Amino acid sequence: MRKKVCILGLGYIGLPTAALFANNGYDVTGVDINQDVIENLNEGKIIIKEPNLDELVKKVVGQNMLKGSLTPSESDIFIICVPTPITKDKNADLKYIVKAVNDILPYLKVGDIVVLESTSPVGTTKNIVKSILEKTNLDIGNDIYLGYSPERVLPGQIIKELVSNHRVIGGINEISAEKIKNVYESFVEGEIYTTDTDTAEMVKLIENTFRDINIAFANELSLICDKLGMSAWDVIEYANKHPRVNILNPGPGVGGHCLAVDPWFIVESSKDLANIVKLARNTNDYMPTYVFNKIQKLTDKTKKNIKVCILGATYKKDIDDMRESPIVHLIDILRKNNYEVELYDPYVKNYEVLNNNIYECAKNSDFLVLGVDHTVFKDLDYKAILEVMDNNIFIDTRNFFNKDNIESIGYKYYLIGSSI
Ligand SMILES: NC(=O)c1ccc[n+]([C@@H]2O[C@H](COP(=O)([O-])OP(=O)(O)OC[C@H]3O[C@@H](n4cnc5c(N)ncnc54)[C@H](O)[C@@H]3O)[C@@H](O)[C@H]2O)c1
Repeated sequence: MRKKVCILGLGYIGLPTAALFANNGYDVTGVDINQDVIENLNEGKIIIKEPNLDELVKKVVGQNMLKGSLTPSESDIFIICVPTPITKDKNADLKYIVKAVNDILPYLKVGDIVVLESTSPVGTTKNIVKSILEKTNLDIGNDIYLGYSPERVLPGQIIKELVSNHRVIGGINEISAEKIKNVYESFVEGEIYTTDTDTAEMVKLIENTFRDINIAFANELSLICDKLGMSAWDVIEYANKHPRVNILNPGPGVGGHCLAVDPWFIVESSKDLANIVKLARNTNDYMPTYVFNKIQKLTDKTKKNIKVCILGATYKKDIDDMRESPIVHLIDILRKNNYEVELYDPYVKNYEVLNNNIYECAKNSDFLVLGVDHTVFKDLDYKAILEVMDNNIFIDTRNFFNKDNIESIGYKYYLIGSSI
């Protein structure tokens, strides 16, 4: 008989994972508290944008290998992929995990496997998940196998990377880790390394923290180079000619559900030690304010209504995810300071100031601000856009355009991270 998998949380991680298990011989129930997600899924449709996911979901739903449900059901394997946001005070908000684990309690039986996939503070599996599961009076580690199996996928390449990436799986004991490894081997082609749950949780957190710190270094350079009258982009390009130097690109800040969140879980656990981690977070969080300051400096103070047209507000290029996006923060800062803002982003379906007619969006604007380097933005007609604008200031936060090309159209071009 086919093994049953029940996946709780059908977002960017849970749904592709569910579809891959279903495509590899498991009988999968996908559970979400969002009715829209479930209704669409049961029609073979998805409400997020991720390359190749729609075809795969359509296929496995059509084959009856994946179905959606608002509640969990009996299964052999339970996988939890619910959100783990931070609170206003930058502490981990684990309420979604707590609810999801409680939700599966009535369906657990001896021999079942429970896997936490949500990015979590160190100790979550061992302390929080295990203690909730203990309400069943089953022996966790012997009757129920428990572990942590984090994701390290790149949005836009999730299906490919879920299969090809190496994985680190932490078990509450060795047998749990081995059982979980065995489950993921059904579709993972990368190496699977097993360890304890605390180590696996920490590995996931420091991967994202490593990237956040490196981006913060580039962003700090961008502030320094701007002040000293040069371009951080040039400085970084030349420094990277060194065989052992590889500085990342600066930008308007760091967003997403991972890099902008996970380092805080380390800070929360080790406030007196995680100094660089915290500083990096604060540096990256400051970047939208830096972009705003640049706009403010270039603002015509004699004009009453200043309008800013923003190109792109997702947290990175060519995706639809706006969570923690620095451009969303920039929009908020601009509006709080009485700038009129309209957003053009073909990846975004709904947003307060969204106007997906680029000419209406840019009409009477003083500033055109490139927030995200979506590939499609290369093909916009910038001459026609300039014709509907009131002023000609072009701010590039990503070094996406060539200054000479943009200025030859008639704009005045400013690059974030440089004095130009
Ligand atoms: N998105 C990424 O690239 C990425 C990468 C690695 C790790 N992660 C981690 O994976 C986890 C999930 O992230 P995501 O991006 O898929 O989130 P998401 O917000 O896209 O999806 C989470 C889903 O869980 C549902 N949900 C909430 N509570 C539930 C419950 N009790 N039962 C069933 N469903 C419930 C929500 O309705 C939502 O659809 C997070 O911890 C995140 O940090 C995400």
